[in-house]
Amino acid sequence: MSEEIVILGKKYSSKDRVRADRTDKLYEDIPEGETLLKIEDLNVTYRTDNSTTVAVDNISFDIKKGELLSIVGPSGCGKSTILRCIGGLLQPTSGKITIGDKECTTAGSDRGMVFQDFALFPWRSVRRNIEFGLEIAGVPKEERRERSTRYLKAMGLEEYADHRIHELSGGMKQRVGIARAMIMHPAVILMDEPFGALDAQTRNILQHSLVEVLKNSHRTIIFVTHSVDEAIYLSDRILVLSKRPATIHNILEVPGERPRERAAPEYAELRRKILDYLESQNTIF
Ligand SMILES: Nc1ncnc2c1ncn2[C@@H]1O[C@H](COP(=O)(O)OP(=O)(O)O)[C@@H](O)[C@H]1O
Ligand SMILES: [Mg+2]
Repeated sequence: MSEEIVILGKKYSSKDRVRADRTDKLYEDIPEGETLLKIEDLNVTYRTDNSTTVAVDNISFDIKKGELLSIVGPSGCGKSTILRCIGGLLQPTSGKITIGDKECTTAGSDRGMVFQDFALFPWRSVRRNIEFGLEIAGVPKEERRERSTRYLKAMGLEEYADHRIHELSGGMKQRVGIARAMIMHPAVILMDEPFGALDAQTRNILQHSLVEVLKNSHRTIIFVTHSVDEAIYLSDRILVLSKRPATIHNILEVPGERPRERAAPEYAELRRKILDYLESQNTIF
């Protein structure tokens, strides 16, 4: 039987519901390690009345299913622009983005976002923030509860389930942001400097929590950061961008299982190589 609900004037059937809250299932046929998302010849030029800014210059890369790919590059080089295009929040000037065999032209629940400034709902409790997408997708209350409890636990937020957002520290807010994205099981999670607003210690703890969550639940993640150390700690591969307009300088594999030893000598050379390049791009960190 097909049930129908109407949200903001748009009709959703029970068929959509299954898709909206488990879009990873749409790509079940693609094996782990195979290409899930493809960016081809992406160009973005911002035009205002009196200026033209070329932000992204002909970028192509793939994201493999189950990998965490970091994008690092100088501040202002075009990282958020690329992520916004993948999220469907910005129309590229030219180029093509496909997920599975489907071209992404608008935002969709197969691409979940986590933002630096949290973007949470202050009037909702922690639990109801985490359940938000499930609510929109029409998932019944009991199932929402069961799923949010799992993510509250995974992100160490159990005790804060009924708290309001303003009662939380920045680190906890971002835990809510991550849980809210993960609970939807999107095919790809897009994170734009999610830990950028946090102090160094909190940032390390959150990085570790993310690694822990990924141990139990493989996800495909694109993680934008300007921190080389963060990229090395978290990623399977690191995409290094030039200064604006962003072009791809290099795509580097990071060896070693997670969790990783932050100061391990095996990463010293990789770290140096990326930092030297970024410094050559005349950026002040
Ligand atoms: N909406 C916009 N209109 C005009 N220029 C923009 C807009 N958004 C970003 N830019 C410019 O595009 C360039 C890349 O920005 P962005 O993608 O935010 O860089 P990053 O995330 O790497 O710091 C910057 O020079 C920025 O000023
Ligand atoms: Mg940015």
